[in-house]
Amino acid sequence: MSGICIAIDGPAAAGKSTVAKIVANRLGYIYLDTGAMYRTLTYAAQQAQVTLSSESELEHLLPTVAITFAPDEVNGGQRVFLNNVDVSDAIRSEAVTNNVSIVAQVLSVREEMKKRQLAFAADGGVVMDGRDIGTNVLPNAELKIFLLASVDERAIRRFNENKAKGYKHVPLELLKEEIEARDNLDYTRKHAPLKKAEDAIELDTTSLSIDEVSTRIYDLAQTKLHA
Ligand code: CDP
Ligand code: CDP
Repeated sequence: MSGICIAIDGPAAAGKSTVAKIVANRLGYIYLDTGAMYRTLTYAAQQAQVTLSSESELEHLLPTVAITFAPDEVNGGQRVFLNNVDVSDAIRSEAVTNNVSIVAQVLSVREEMKKRQLAFAADGGVVMDGRDIGTNVLPNAELKIFLLASVDERAIRRFNENKAKGYKHVPLELLKEEIEARDNLDYTRKHAPLKKAEDAIELDTTSLSIDEVSTRIYDLAQTKLHA
């Protein structure tokens, strides 16, 4: 059996990619970080000096942007490549983070990303995290999770992550403002906004550990698999 599709959506820094990776590993499934795809496109657009809100300029750029993933042999997880160049750290910069939601508003960008994302899910056995996976990319996913955490907790998580990974220091209050601004754009955009799918299970992770969240999702997946 090729496995089920699991969609994990939610606002910024709720812990989606961390737990999605763990659940995928435990199930032996493919993991796809769809946020990394939007980030890579944004980085490519900035490099090419494309107007980030211009649909026509982005449409022109898209065919030149190959986004691929490979296992990170040193740190675990995945590395992300733009036209075979490792951009895993570059796409976490503030310049990308604070502009990605502008690029992600554009309809033809979303359509192209969805097409590429569906190719990963063609055989099932996939855990995909993002903003519109349960509502738009995989509306028939067997398991849908909507991960939440308070904005204060999410800012602290991102702050600690920046420190641990040696990324640029951004004060906690500013991180919180940036997260709120990005969430606001993601929740209110016209095309495929961030939204809990009607049949998604909501998990507030504010006071849950990574292990608790991933075990909860893994157990839900097992229930689906043995239903
Ligand atoms: O990791 P973090 O929560 O900071 O964000 P991400 O998952 O890397 O996603 C970056 C941005 O890409 C989001 O803020 C959205 O604007 C966009 N995105 C999207 O529109 N749809 C998705 N399925 C995934 C990400
Ligand atoms: O993918 P998303 O932006 O939703 O979040 P993430 O990048 O997976 O998680 C952001 C940070 O929160 C990471 O450093 C995780 O280790 C941490 N985290 C946590 O402290 N507790 C959780 N329950 C989940 C994630």
